[in-house]
Amino acid sequence: MAQPRFLMLLLLGVAATLVVRPLLTDEVGAKARSGIVVGAAVDWGLLQQPGPYQSLFLEHYSSLTPENEMKMDALAPAPDRLDFGRADDLVEWAAAHHIKVHGHTLVWHRQLPAWLEQRRWTRPELAAFLRRYVTTVVRHFRGRVGSWDVINEPLAADGSLRRNVWLRVLGRGYIADALRWAHAADPSARLYINEFDVERNGPKRRAMYRLLRGLKRQGVPLDGIGLQAHLTTQWHPGGRELRWVMGRYAALGLRVDVSELDVAIGPQAGELTRQARIYRSVAAACRQEPACQRFATWGFTDSSTWLGSGRRPLPFDAAGQPKPAWQAVRAGLGR
Ligand code: XIL
Repeated sequence: MAQPRFLMLLLLGVAATLVVRPLLTDEVGAKARSGIVVGAAVDWGLLQQPGPYQSLFLEHYSSLTPENEMKMDALAPAPDRLDFGRADDLVEWAAAHHIKVHGHTLVWHRQLPAWLEQRRWTRPELAAFLRRYVTTVVRHFRGRVGSWDVINEPLAADGSLRRNVWLRVLGRGYIADALRWAHAADPSARLYINEFDVERNGPKRRAMYRLLRGLKRQGVPLDGIGLQAHLTTQWHPGGRELRWVMGRYAALGLRVDVSELDVAIGPQAGELTRQARIYRSVAAACRQEPACQRFATWGFTDSSTWLGSGRRPLPFDAAGQPKPAWQAVRAGLGR
């Protein structure tokens, strides 16, 4: 008689765990994944000075993305000259503090040097320039910059390739070429395509999937996609949607990192709570997806954000105090 009752209790216990646990946590089935690197884009002018900005960063982050110092206008001030001064200082500082550096970004349509935009390029000339640029920059930082956004924002909103100078002059092959040049310059660097508005389902997400699949099929050296995730409390993916989208990219054999997360708020009451919920669901999606190895925000304190401090998009407030969003990140990542 004792045995059926025991079995019944056991079954009830299992059922209760299955039903109740998912209600308690939105990270259904998530394993503790301590391997996720938590990073942020940094303002190098602020970071290099000892002070609250620097200590807040060092206390909580282990990876940085230079906000501007590795963009083409910073590194290529003149046609025949590269200037690594500031970027080298930043990389040296990072190494001294055991912080990983994610390089951002080699090929983009913005923050190009004026001399490059003003010139009329022939295809062979621009191809030669880009090849030399990508090769020299990646080789320069070899062993010190472990991953690169080789291509930034290649897609237009409708999913077509963005008609930037690279596409117009070089044709669609510029993406594969740049990845191959970067790989040849540092075979151990992890190479990414980085993009916004591809964390929700829609034409741009589908186009990104096709682009990545095509590159993988051609054997192009590509390691991952960076989901910029510039979100607002009005415009953001749901947790399930994000997990599904991440899984689609991951099925291509790619890393799927959160590369530039911020969540802009409005003036209404309750926005900080809504913001925290979104931070938590993005962090939880990253934790659940084994391909998600880096969880990075674009800045970390509301005192320094590209959106202007009124949008308060980051996990620490302007005084450097943790917001509900920061607790949410920790909970979502399981820390
Ligand atoms: C932004 C920087 O944060 C600003 O300081 C700069 O004036 C403009 O660029 N997506 C990207 C980043 O990939 O390079 C952008 O950074 C923010 C949006």
